[in-house]
Amino acid sequence: MTDSKMKSAQSRRTFLKTATGAATLAATTLHAPYIMAQPSKVRVGFLLPYTGTYAKLGQAITGAFKLHVDEHGGRLGGRTIEYVQVDSEAKPAKATDNTNRLVNLEKVDVIVGPVHSGVAVAMVRVTRESGTLTIDPNAGAGVVTGALCAPNVFRTSFSNWQPSYPMGKVLADRGMKKAVTLTWKYAAGQEAIGGFVQNFTAHGGSIVKDLWVPFPKVEFQSLLTEIASIKPDAVFVFFAGGGAVKFVKDYAAAGLHNSVPLFGSGFLTDGTLKAQGDAAQGLETTLHYGDGLILPKNLAFREAYLKAAGREADVYAVQGYDAAQLLRIGLEAANGDVKAKKRMIESMGSAEIDSPRGKFTLSKAHNPVQDIYLRKVVGMENKVQGVAHKALADPATGCKMA
Ligand code: PHB
Repeated sequence: MTDSKMKSAQSRRTFLKTATGAATLAATTLHAPYIMAQPSKVRVGFLLPYTGTYAKLGQAITGAFKLHVDEHGGRLGGRTIEYVQVDSEAKPAKATDNTNRLVNLEKVDVIVGPVHSGVAVAMVRVTRESGTLTIDPNAGAGVVTGALCAPNVFRTSFSNWQPSYPMGKVLADRGMKKAVTLTWKYAAGQEAIGGFVQNFTAHGGSIVKDLWVPFPKVEFQSLLTEIASIKPDAVFVFFAGGGAVKFVKDYAAAGLHNSVPLFGSGFLTDGTLKAQGDAAQGLETTLHYGDGLILPKNLAFREAYLKAAGREADVYAVQGYDAAQLLRIGLEAANGDVKAKKRMIESMGSAEIDSPRGKFTLSKAHNPVQDIYLRKVVGMENKVQGVAHKALADPATGCKMA
């Protein structure tokens, strides 16, 4: 045999061996397709603000959601998670198009969002029709788990009414009689103020003035002048994100923090303390979270989040983390089959979520039933003073689950 003939015989043998191997593999594959099948990834679409006054809120939710998935090796219920991010810009006018893009173009399996109540209403109108699994990790619009409630729509945060309602009684119990309210004029602000007013007036208080600014404006000077001239017993506000930073600083700069006590739902001082500095010291708020909560789950979460994100966790991070926990519970119950919606929805609806805020369950309308804490800013912490209202459920007005 010549050298070249030997070489070609050898390579034929190698080829045959390889081909036999391939044939065996092909036969196995034919008989047992599951050995080769790579389950497709579960697509999670974030509809969150990454620009504007709520940008930090969107970033915290996204970061903490991914943290929980990463803690499970990038997989929930055995399925790898992949992400699509759309900047909602906290603009309701763009919300229908943005949601349609995620549902129809990106074909996501789950939508996680939004932050802004106006965006939430438009989003839910789309997803309750499409049936897309939806987890709201912040926006508090009452209708999401009220008149627009739906089996496929869940919330891991709060209704706007919820964190404010307990403060009405707290202040009335302190003998405060006359309050001024102030907020951005849109659903979140109006509903948050509504919760406070309902409970404050039920316990003998009265509202002497309702003040507001358009969202997301932060020109407060004329309003602060008006508050100084009214001199109420208390001021109750809803602001969040960049707007909350500016408001608290302006309030202190106007010298009002020494003469007219300021209160709010806890968004006023959550994720904002570094930027607010001295201006926030001593402020009391009510919220379903407090960064100083001494619970093993909270301590572990805060440490992991700080390491992953390079900044302290806040209520938005908690809500994003819990959105991922809720999705994990659903996917685990359905063995990773994201199309098995009934199984997922049943297990998610009856879940007890081990949250950094403390364990909570969901109401029939899919809104958290949760403790609302009274907190006070001490240094760089919203220190928990006690529980202002135990296991508070939103009234879920108008919710008829199909
Ligand atoms: C809302 O628009 O529902 C909203 C936004 C920011 C918050 C709370 C509620 O911190």
